[in-house]
Amino acid sequence: MAKSKTSCIGILTSGGDCPGLNAAIRGVAKAALGQGTKVIGIQDGFRGLVENRIMNLEDKDVSGILTHGGTFLGSSRDKPHKMDMGGQIMDMTAVAVANARKNHIDCLVCLGGNGTQKNAMRLHEAGLNVLTLPKTIDNDVAGTDITFGFDSSMAIATEAIDRLHTTASSHHRAIVCEIMGHRAGWLALGAGIAGGADVILLPEIPYDLDFVVAHLKARRHHNKRFSIIAVAEGAISKADAEKKKKATAPKKDDDKFTFEEPTASRIAREIQQAAGIEVRFTSLGHVQRGGTPTATDRLLCTRMGTKAGELLADGIYNVMVGLKGEVCVAVPLAEVAGQTKTVPMGHRWLKTAALVDTCLGDKLDFQ
Ligand code: F6P
Repeated sequence: MAKSKTSCIGILTSGGDCPGLNAAIRGVAKAALGQGTKVIGIQDGFRGLVENRIMNLEDKDVSGILTHGGTFLGSSRDKPHKMDMGGQIMDMTAVAVANARKNHIDCLVCLGGNGTQKNAMRLHEAGLNVLTLPKTIDNDVAGTDITFGFDSSMAIATEAIDRLHTTASSHHRAIVCEIMGHRAGWLALGAGIAGGADVILLPEIPYDLDFVVAHLKARRHHNKRFSIIAVAEGAISKADAEKKKKATAPKKDDDKFTFEEPTASRIAREIQQAAGIEVRFTSLGHVQRGGTPTATDRLLCTRMGTKAGELLADGIYNVMVGLKGEVCVAVPLAEVAGQTKTVPMGHRWLKTAALVDTCLGDKLDFQ
């Protein structure tokens, strides 16, 4: 085997965790170690790099973790250029770069979602070689057909919808189920279709409450006495979407979680008032991010991780490993960082949902 062009890598996991992270770390580390590359694990995302909290990883450290949920390296939402250092927000980019150099890291491998892609790009601009993998249950990273974590989370949300069906049906109720996804509707749409939800509300299609209520009433009229409404956490009404467009208030930090009323609770209240039917709501929350990855995610993580190993051996940096069709490819990081992949209008999943008479919150052009 030819000598790897990369002598040493640092691996970190950043942003919200998801099933499959350990499988991906294992894939990268085993492939790199097998090619003679030294592997350093960095704890708790970019914060660990700034604080120089690192550990050498050997084969035994990444064995037996394929099926484990979460990330054994720990994760955080900290960004090097805006880090809370004991109550003071500071730009720690130079420290992050210096620590990578001090540890002789030739390339920093960052496993994360959109925030991580941006932070990795910033470190690249500050002088580091980076390589990223697209991790998020939200499936909203550009440059790849799918992110890892999405399939596992979709399976959990689908099972939840299945369980809600039996109780909704017994009590002849409508149940609103809130599904994560940040500003994208992939998870609610995928789980909604797989679970046979009667209504699916996404951030990409601001909903018309009257349209939704008419659909629920029509179901009752046809003696379908229960309904499941799958809502993405970012679902918004047409009226609120209009207000938001006109609002002049500064944009909130997208990564900050605020304890506002859950979307499912708000929509359940709106439906109960407008339709006069009994409604309950459930917010799945972090249950969707926990536990063991599905077989599909284990395979994807191992494929993406080992592809990263191959790229490192060839000295190819500043790219993200993406899946295009059946193939893992290197996508220039500059094409990914700062982009968000939401559900495009006319996407085949939307058409699929419409064809099985699922209400998508409003009349769509293709209907
Ligand atoms: O990006 C993954 C995600 O789970 C989103 O779906 C959700 O909006 C967010 O993270 C929740 O973040 P946190 O774990 O910081 O509350």
